[in-house]
This record gives sequence, structure tokens and C-alpha cells, in this order.
Amino acid sequence: MKRKLIATLLSATMAASLLAGCGGGSGSSSEAASGAPASSAAEASSPAEASTPAESSGAEESAASDAGTAGGGGKIGISMPTQSLERWNRDGSYLDEQFKAAGYETVLTYSDNDSGRQVNDIQNMLADGVDLLVVAAIDGEALNTAMDEAAEANVPVIAYDRLIMNDAVSYYVSFDNYTVGKLQGEFVESQLDLKNAGDKTYNIEFTAGDPADNNAGYFYNGAVDVLQPYIDAGTLHVVSGQTDFDTVATAQWNTDTALERAQNVLSSYYADGTQLDVWVCSNDSTALGVAQAVTSDYAGDNDVLITGQDGDEANLKNIVDGIQTMTVYKNVSNESIVTLALAQAMMNGETIDESLIPSFGIECAFDTESYETSEGNKCPSFLLVPSVITKDNLQDLVDTGLYTMGDDGYLAAAQ
Ligand code: BGC
Repeated sequence: MKRKLIATLLSATMAASLLAGCGGGSGSSSEAASGAPASSAAEASSPAEASTPAESSGAEESAASDAGTAGGGGKIGISMPTQSLERWNRDGSYLDEQFKAAGYETVLTYSDNDSGRQVNDIQNMLADGVDLLVVAAIDGEALNTAMDEAAEANVPVIAYDRLIMNDAVSYYVSFDNYTVGKLQGEFVESQLDLKNAGDKTYNIEFTAGDPADNNAGYFYNGAVDVLQPYIDAGTLHVVSGQTDFDTVATAQWNTDTALERAQNVLSSYYADGTQLDVWVCSNDSTALGVAQAVTSDYAGDNDVLITGQDGDEANLKNIVDGIQTMTVYKNVSNESIVTLALAQAMMNGETIDESLIPSFGIECAFDTESYETSEGNKCPSFLLVPSVITKDNLQDLVDTGLYTMGDDGYLAAAQ
């Protein structure tokens, strides 16, 4: 009886600790989480507990392997946006593997870029008794129903890669999104030697990401903030005049949508032989569409500098072939390792702050200022460090062990 009471109290305190973070209102996760007792999610919900498979189509549920059960325990819901964009397949499988190897059961869903379906998938996970959610949102503003239910059920949420605009989110794990865009802008600046351009002028266009994705604005602003002074000075000329985020945005980061807009811009503004020098694309799926349009519809024969982000296989091929110039690489295997370590620390009631970082073994920053889940509600974030990949340092990707290079020089994801 007494033991049961202590267990109940521990669970209640642990729940408070788990749910601390963005919505905690303190703005400081260390304050919010400190003092929590060492406890484990296994106590709150045993992995042996009967589980009903997630209802949603495409949900994969699996028990941890026997080998990995030490130190883990509990069930983790992993909700990914779509399999149609290359990286999320990687994220989903890395997260799934990491959590399983640490002894957790997992439920992994992809919601086909349909936020209604993502709400449904998360609701099914909650009904299935998950102890913690890892969610990469399709639309950061559209998950309130599921997030509110998670909060009611005391299930903590880690916003993975993309922030969710709901205070039920405890912590955010991502890359430094503003820096991703800044690296793209700085790449253009150095390739064209804009600082020393003198009277030289260059023509540039922009393609941004999905307005429903909270990251998209950070990427775009990061790039524009570097390049705006050159636009203002007339060194860079946006021939289409299209610089407003909503005008250059790409719903769902869709390649065909980016392709179509690029074709329209090329036929409307460049068909007369005007030279295009640069097309800043926020990521690889949009860069793929823009590169296709430039290859088939651009009249000039100069190389057009095209930026990207992710290191998708098709884009790495384009980099080898000189069709895309760079990509900002984000090691999503590391992102999943940080997510697992954070989840474990949360479930053990540890203090969540920068003191955790050495145990990750991965370079990242603890940021309590940059992201808010609602006005004034800062979300404590672990932000990993992105890097620039060009034709000249593709070997760096091979060195991660996550890619192999074929005899043709093209890279493929390591199996
Ligand atoms: C991710 C990018 C990705 C994009 C489209 C963003 O939220 O941070 O890495 O390219 O979504 O999938």
C-alpha cells in the first residue's frame, strides 16, 4: 500500500518533470526539471502492458530486441510527416533503431503529409499507451487536438526537427535552422566574392519551403539576412522581384511545385536571354525541381549556382554532375541520438540543460531563447550544427559511415 503511494507520488512528480519545458512557463528547463526524482517511465507504464496495435494505416509497432532492454523500458510513439521526402525515411528508421536498441518499444507512423492524419496517428499512439512522443510536425499549427490530449494523458512530447506551436511540447531537438539559411547565403556571398564585387552585378532568384513548417521561415531569413545588403546595393538583382516569403514558398516542400514556379519565373523573366546566376533553394526537394527547370527551360549556358539542404541522394548526384552547387548537410542520425539521450534523461527525471550535452557526444547547443511554442513560452531546444557540402568535400559524407561512394563517384545511403 505504502509502496503504491510512493510510486504514485513519484509518477506524479515525474510527470511534472517530463512535461516541463516549453509549456512549463518558467522559460528555463533546468528550473522546471531540477529536483525531479530518479525514476523511469517503465514504472509509469510497463513495456509488458498489453498493447493494441496503432489503428492508423502504416503504423509499425515493434518490441525492443532482447539484447537492448537494459536501461530502457516504455513505449515511444514516433510520428514522422511523410515518406515522400527522402530525409524522413532516414529519421524514422534511425529513431526507431535507436529507441529499440535502448530497450524501448516503438510505434512509428508516417502521415503522408496530411496533418489530419497525423493528429489521428498521434491519437492512436496515445490510445496505445505510449509513454513519450517524438513528433516531426507536418503543420506546426495543426496538431492542437493531439497535443492537448497528450498533455491530458501526461505524455511528454519532443518536437523533432520542426517545432509544434503548442505548449504541450516539452523540448525541441533540431539543427540550428537559421544557420542553415545563413550558410546558404554565405556560400553565395563567397562564391561570387560579393564583398569585392565592385560594379559587377548578378541575377538571383529564391525558392523557400513550406509555410506550414516552422523551420521554413528560419531557413529563408538566414539566407536573406546575408544577401539583403547586396540586394539593397544593387549587386544582386532579383529579376522576378519575388522576395516575399509567401510568394517564393513551396507548399509541402514539393518538388513539382518548385519546378512549376521555376519554369514560370524562367519563361516570364529570363526567356529574353537575361542571365540567371544564382537560385537560392531552401532545401534539396525544392532544389531538385529548380534544377530540373534550369536544365530544361533556361536559355543561358552559364552554370547557375543552386543551393540546397539535406544531402538527398538525387541532389548529391546533381552536385557530382555540376547541376546543384551545394547542400547544407544535417546528420539526422546524430539528431536521433540526441533525441534518444534527451528522452532517456527526461524519463529518468534528470535535469535538462546544457550539462547533458557532453553525454550526447555530438556537437550541439542548448538554446532557451530562440524558439517559442506560443507567445512568451520559450521552448528549451537542443540545436545541432549543420555543415556545407560541395563537390569538393563529398568524402566527408562517406566518412560519417552513412553514405558509400560508388565507382561512378555517386553517393548512396549506406545499407
Ligand atoms: C527539414 C528539412 C527538410 C524539409 C522538407 C524541414 O523541416 O528541416 O531538412 O528538407 O523539412 O522535408
